[in-house]
Amino acid sequence: MQRTHSSTELTIESVGQRVELCGWINSRRDHGGLIFIDLRDRSGLIQIVFSPEVNEEAFHLAEQVRSEYVIAVTGIVSARTPATINPNLQTGNIEVYIDRMEVLSASKTPPFYIEDGIEVDENLRLKHRYLDLRRPEMLKNIMLRHRVIKTIRDYLDENGFLEIETPLLTKSTPEGARDYLVPSRVHPGQFYALPQSPQIFKQILMVSGMEKYFQIARCFRDEDLRADRQPEFTQLDMEMSFIDEADIFALVEKMIIHLFKIGIDRDIEPDFPSITYDEAMKKYGSDKPDLRFGLEIEDLTELVRNVDFKVFSSAIDAGGVVRAINVEGGASFTRKEIDELGKIAVDNGAKGMAWIIVAENELRSPITKFFTDDQMQSVLQALKAQKGDLLLFCADRPDIVARVLGTVRLELARRMDLIDSSLLKFVWVVDFPLFEYDDEENRFVAVHHMFTAPRKEDIDLIDKDPAAVKARAYDLILNGTEIGGGSIRIHQRDLQRKIFSLLAMTPETYNEKFGYMLEAFEYGTPPHGGIAFGIDRLLMIMAGRNSIRDVIAFPKTQSAVCPMTQAPAAVSGKQLRELSLKIRE
Ligand code: AMO
Ligand code: AMP
Repeated sequence: MQRTHSSTELTIESVGQRVELCGWINSRRDHGGLIFIDLRDRSGLIQIVFSPEVNEEAFHLAEQVRSEYVIAVTGIVSARTPATINPNLQTGNIEVYIDRMEVLSASKTPPFYIEDGIEVDENLRLKHRYLDLRRPEMLKNIMLRHRVIKTIRDYLDENGFLEIETPLLTKSTPEGARDYLVPSRVHPGQFYALPQSPQIFKQILMVSGMEKYFQIARCFRDEDLRADRQPEFTQLDMEMSFIDEADIFALVEKMIIHLFKIGIDRDIEPDFPSITYDEAMKKYGSDKPDLRFGLEIEDLTELVRNVDFKVFSSAIDAGGVVRAINVEGGASFTRKEIDELGKIAVDNGAKGMAWIIVAENELRSPITKFFTDDQMQSVLQALKAQKGDLLLFCADRPDIVARVLGTVRLELARRMDLIDSSLLKFVWVVDFPLFEYDDEENRFVAVHHMFTAPRKEDIDLIDKDPAAVKARAYDLILNGTEIGGGSIRIHQRDLQRKIFSLLAMTPETYNEKFGYMLEAFEYGTPPHGGIAFGIDRLLMIMAGRNSIRDVIAFPKTQSAVCPMTQAPAAVSGKQLRELSLKIRE
């Protein structure tokens, strides 16, 4: 075997050359006197031809091989006649006449076709991931992933960053999910935790004076999975000293623009817009707004304060809000469709969703009777309502209204096909609250994480009104997906202690968990901050896919299982004994 070319290295210039190719049989067509095989290697396809006139032995072998056999062939490149040129194939104007073939390995019939766009149960694809990855669209995703990660490394290297690895066997890091634990054999009863992120290590690297750090970091989170969440995933993790938000935004934007250019040849406009958390929740009902379409939410609380409708007034009296969406052209929705939307609202916590259809000559609605003409006019004006529109209202606590109308907004965009999938809409979300109250745990929890700095002007509020304190935290949103998040950190140990206390940790607890970090902070800590990107999510969007599993070579299912290896799996009694573990019945 002496491979001379990959299949797509051959061009019309190669005609007349004697070449040796290796690869998989993509398809075979037997035309009696001639056998055509599409030979596939990583680079693509090329047609090879067997004729008894060229070589009898090779021809007879070609009669016996099937799809996915691995072969090595030798032959002469020749130009195709104009009538047989295949314009859909990169090598479609040439073919190779084979005079020698060797079968390197046979193949069973694959459980699904090795081609793009197949409708196959994902479990089956994951069980035979090696076959799934042979499909060109999957191979393309893996190659994109390689190129993007290489580009990140080069870019950050050129910008003075050091790539530093941090431990996988470590102590719990607080990112809000459950930890994956690893029992220690030599310390019976003790456990390592796999990192939810390298957060504490990267901050300690700043204390070490590394100034600019990055890592392509594997992170582990035991949480409920969705299309954009995996139990292990990859972050581009970054941290810098002596910087503020503006420095991070500028650096990150340049990098993202570069990545989209190199990765998928897209030109992204610089100066990403930013929106405050409060405004995003109000206008889009979400802290990860999808700006590819309108359907913005309007606050009507003040306008309807005096409307004699119990549903609105009791919500407002209880400190709630009334907000609405104008669904342009939505008057054509049937009652059934409006009821379906109402059901989505109720499923998301609404008590109901009032509606008004702006018909040709009248308003149709169960609630117009509660409004005076003036009140109705001002609502219609505020919503810029036109004939043919549908207005949807929700009255409740601000967080409930945001969730309800935010969900309805996305559902409307899907139903009305309002999303132009060719768009790439970036937005920074800033000024997140530092804390939120957790009703279940009866205490404040950190919205980003507990090392995030409060805004300077809000420091006095920490004791007085914790819920009002804004954080120096930011997320980068792309098309409604959170692709990255970070913050400026607390670098003063006293402030850090205070925040720990506010999060209901006793000094014993925080010293036991994070004492090493607080101690490090006693030895000269530079002001610092950083960000982490979900590389899988970023690649999912670049590749135009709907699931991050499509850009990960060996992902897990929604129930955190690997169908190929069958992980997780039971272990032997011997292994458990060595680890001093016993499984409870
Ligand atoms: P955060 O928790 O926001 O921040 O994570 C950063 C980014 O990682 C991605 N991500 C995930 N991707 C796939 N599967 C998951 N389960 C998953 N969870 C998160 C998201 C998210 O924006 N240490 C901080 C960063 C910092 O403050 O610098 C952190 O981990 O795209
Ligand atoms: P009712 O007077 O209870 O029949 O409600 C009249 C309309 O108001 C119905 O369309 C309900 O779906 C709607 N509705 C009920 N509760 C709310 C609410 N909290 N916000 C918005 N609309 C509501």
